[in-house]
Amino acid sequence: MAQLKDKIAVITGAAGGIGHAATLAMAREGATVVLSDLNDDAGHQIEQEIRASGGQAFYRHANVASTSDIEALVNFTVEQCGRIDVLVNNAAIAIPGTVADITEEKWNKVLDINLTSVWRGMHCAIPHMMRQGGGSIVNMSSAQGLVGFSGWSAYAAAKGAINALTRQAAVDYSKYNIRINAVAPGTINTAMNVRIYAEAEDGEALKRYWVSRHVAGRFGEPEEVAGLIVFLASDAASFITGEVIRIDGGLVINGG
Ligand SMILES: NC(=O)c1ccc[n+]([C@@H]2O[C@H](COP(=O)([O-])OP(=O)(O)OC[C@H]3O[C@@H](n4cnc5c(N)ncnc54)[C@H](O)[C@@H]3O)[C@@H](O)[C@H]2O)c1
Repeated sequence: MAQLKDKIAVITGAAGGIGHAATLAMAREGATVVLSDLNDDAGHQIEQEIRASGGQAFYRHANVASTSDIEALVNFTVEQCGRIDVLVNNAAIAIPGTVADITEEKWNKVLDINLTSVWRGMHCAIPHMMRQGGGSIVNMSSAQGLVGFSGWSAYAAAKGAINALTRQAAVDYSKYNIRINAVAPGTINTAMNVRIYAEAEDGEALKRYWVSRHVAGRFGEPEEVAGLIVFLASDAASFITGEVIRIDGGLVINGG
């Protein structure tokens, strides 16, 4: 049986790598997906793709840095679909910089888009989930929230805080039958990484090094992360809450 049959799912950053794959996977598993992004052309295309293959999807523009956009996204979902069963807080940006190097402006931007966005999504969706008797939230974290890699202070701080916020919220809302988990990928083949290696000094050598750091000997694919998101969102994960699940090809366990 479809893992998300009759569920109503909302996802942010749905036009890019992992968000795109998760959107398609949730729709394939029977969910009605309200997908959002800044990239309206790609978002509408994904909406059409899902509808053309017999699935249910609605695209809405939503900037995760705007509380009113996220409120409107959640309200649209509840008005259009009657409820909100699943929220995937996926959108994020990657701006490098050590503590000494990064400007306050860039620090605040990363924290706002990567961390405060997760609070925004939960803040807007949880009251509806409480009223309707439950729900499941999946927050996109990273291996960078678990161990330190050189040069990513704000990104790592945001992801580490997402792990703490996920646990905290899971404790607060378990009594309302709301499960809240986080997913911590290693390196995944998406545009985010294409940009990072393109901008690096010796991108190809850096990429080879990071591939070797994953004991799987490769980077992951967005569809592999999408499978975990679907599982956590589904009733098959009914006894899992407050968890941060690594999906990193052994990056974090590699002693080297
Ligand atoms: N790719 C990786 O290696 C990797 C590893 C660990 C964690 N992650 C996390 O997975 C998630 C998805 O990453 P990805 O690699 O698919 O990224 P991506 O850059 O390929 O796609 C991100 C999507 O988010 C959208 N977006 C960016 N800023 C936004 C905003 N302010 N409001 C709404 N949408 C916005 C973009 O338009 C894009 O469609 C992120 O939370 C990222 O931190 C990625």
